[in-house]
Amino acid sequence: MGLAVLFCRQSLNGEKIGPIGRIRVLRQIRPLMSIIQLPHPLFTGSFSIEETLLKRRSTRQFSNCSLSLAEIGQLLWAAQGITTEDGKRTAPSAGGICPLETYLIAGNVETLASGVYKYDPGTHQIRPTVSGDFRVPLAGASFNQNCVSDGAAIIAFCATYEAMNAKYGPGSEKYIDMEVGHASQNVHLQAVSLGLGTVVVAALREKEVRGIMALPANEKPIYLMPVGKTI
Ligand SMILES: Cc1cc2nc3c(=O)[nH]c(=O)nc-3n(C[C@H](O)[C@H](O)[C@H](O)COP(=O)(O)O)c2cc1C
Repeated sequence: MGLAVLFCRQSLNGEKIGPIGRIRVLRQIRPLMSIIQLPHPLFTGSFSIEETLLKRRSTRQFSNCSLSLAEIGQLLWAAQGITTEDGKRTAPSAGGICPLETYLIAGNVETLASGVYKYDPGTHQIRPTVSGDFRVPLAGASFNQNCVSDGAAIIAFCATYEAMNAKYGPGSEKYIDMEVGHASQNVHLQAVSLGLGTVVVAALREKEVRGIMALPANEKPIYLMPVGKTI
């Protein structure tokens, strides 16, 4: 089952930046630049909604355990998954505009190379955008909050504002902030149901996060949610 993998940094367009210089024997790791189909989400869980609400708590300390791709897929589906034929999602959206862009920053996820991935709710896939482990730089950009780097992965909520502004005019930014609240609570509750912990981190330097994640110019980072197994 072992596979020799040469880790290289890759830019957005797939160009190799330079080998990190290690050849490791690992479980099969997908090549970074390929799109990854996430496992189908489960629609039943071991806790009632009342129990997940009861147990939801901000968690800032995590074990060193990795997360599985199934757990990641379940969390991303809870965040923004499609739940109807006409594209409605797990969280409400003003005017059905769906301005949120959801990212995974993987650091310790089984079978997944460390990097930034963008979630596509329509296909339930993640598309790599930048390679490397960005958990520590993101903790730095969050005023050195250790919890940001201590989880196995980070779910990042970003948003585009053009469509919301066009439909609802000045002041409509508040709808986006509200929507992030809905989506992040979904992730909180899903984490409880999976036996994981998370916390919403809004204290961040926007420009720095934007640079680390190589976000498109029209996407604003709003929340970072480190996630991992609880201690
Ligand atoms: C808008 C908002 C921003 C927050 N930002 C941070 C943050 O930057 N860092 C952090 O550790 N917790 C952050 N939190 C989490 C709160 O500290 C936490 O929800 C609060 O202490 C209550 O604890 P509980 O979530 O366990 O009920 C934030 C929560 C909200 C709603």
